Order: sequence, then structure tokens, then C-alpha cells
Amino acid sequence: MSVIVLASSKGGVGKSTIALVLAHALAHAGGSVALIDADPNSPMDAWAKLSGGNLPERFTLNVGVSEDSIIEKIDEASERDSFVIVDLEGSANMAVSYAIGRADLVLVPLQGSQLDANEAAKVIRLIEREARAYRRKIPYAAILSRTSFIKPRTAKHIESEIRGAGIDILPVEMTERDAFKALFSFGGTLYDLTSEEVSSPDKACANAEALAQAVIDHLRGLKDA
Ligand SMILES: Nc1ncnc2c1ncn2[C@@H]1O[C@H](COP(=O)(O)OP(=O)(O)O)[C@@H](O)[C@H]1O
Ligand SMILES: [Mg+2]
Repeated sequence: MSVIVLASSKGGVGKSTIALVLAHALAHAGGSVALIDADPNSPMDAWAKLSGGNLPERFTLNVGVSEDSIIEKIDEASERDSFVIVDLEGSANMAVSYAIGRADLVLVPLQGSQLDANEAAKVIRLIEREARAYRRKIPYAAILSRTSFIKPRTAKHIESEIRGAGIDILPVEMTERDAFKALFSFGGTLYDLTSEEVSSPDKACANAEALAQAVIDHLRGLKDA
């Protein structure tokens, strides 16, 4: 089992989208996946309601998870599933701290703006504080979110600053795609989207699978280190 936590001190950077898409791709690849929604706005509950019964196979969803129950829920899911993905609120609270405390990998999404990079730095300081508090290494990596094919200069500059600070960036980006947005409008899984509903669903699936593979490789690299 691996506990993957999505964290950022800012809303709107793509945490929930990455959590959901990653969950779909990992389950599609044959892993058993638990998705834990610890955001009081319950984005995954809304998605599940839209989906009716159409949830991926080998997939468990836990919604309404609060600071009182998050550690228990993560530990329960870890016993059962190969991947536990935790989606959090975009601000620091006890649930965020507890989830980071249990993480095998914290993914910090950021878009290519200086403000985002500053927010990401805040989360990274929180992770490092927790690592000291728990006296254990808490691995983390940045993930570039909502990117476009043409990369503006500011985005390139921020990327090189992050790398310069010694922070890992996942080699696969989460591209801005209609299909990813559509999941929270139509429900269902990434693999159910058709080209009538969204443009290039196949490319969205390929992006999701590459991302899942990058996460698996990153986790493997951490184990071997
Ligand atoms: N890769 C993406 N492609 C297209 N839209 C995206 C993507 N990531 C996020 N969005 C959209 O941006 C908004 C915020 O994303 P969300 O995942 O809810 O962020 P967070 O959980 O960090 O607040 C949502 O409307 C979502 O549909
Ligand atoms: Mg969210």
C-alpha cells in the first residue's frame, strides 16, 4: 500500500482533479484504490452522486472524512488497498496535518504562476516541519497542473527555480483538458467519456496513465533509496 496525499494551501490548483484522475488510472491499471475525500466541500461526494452507480472497479470512496476520523480511515484503507489517495481542503488544518503525517508521498500541485509557487513553498515548509515533528522522512514532489502545450516564460522560470531549490517535480504534467473538467460535470470514470462529450478523451486517458506510472516510479525510487 502507498498513501498519496494531495496538498496545497490554495484552492483551484487541481488537487481534486488530480486525485480523481489518478484514482481512475491506478484502478484501471489493476490496482485497488481507496479515495478519501477530507475536504468539507466534498467534491468527491458530488462526483459520486453524478456518477450514480457507475464507479470504477477495485475502488472505494470515503467521503465526509474529518480530522476526527482521517487517521483511522487512512490506516483502514492502507490495510486493504494498494493505493490510498487523500484529497484535502486548500488550507492548512488538522486533517491536512494528519494526512501529511501518514503520507508515503505528498503531491503538491502548482500552476505556472509566482503566487502558486509561493503557496507551494508554504506547503513544503509544513511538510518539513511535520517530518521533524514525527522524526521521519515525508517524501514530496511538485506536480505541474493545468499546463498548456505552449509553455509561457514565467512557467519555465518557476520550474527552474523549483528544481534549483532541490525539489522534485514529477516528469509528467497534468495538462489542462476538457475531459478532466468534465468528470465533475458528468460523473462517471475517465474511461467512460466519449468524444461526443469531450474532445480527445483518449489523450486524457493517456495523460492520466502516464501520471499514474510517474507516481508509481517515484514511489519505487523512494523505496530503493
Ligand atoms: N487539468 C485540468 N484540466 C481542466 N480543468 C481543470 C484541470 N485541473 C483542474 N481543473 C478545473 O479547475 C478547477 C479547480 O480544480 P480542482 O481540482 O477542484 O482544484 P482544487 O482541488 O485544488 O481546489 C475546477 O473547475 C476543475 O474542473
Ligand atoms: Mg479540491
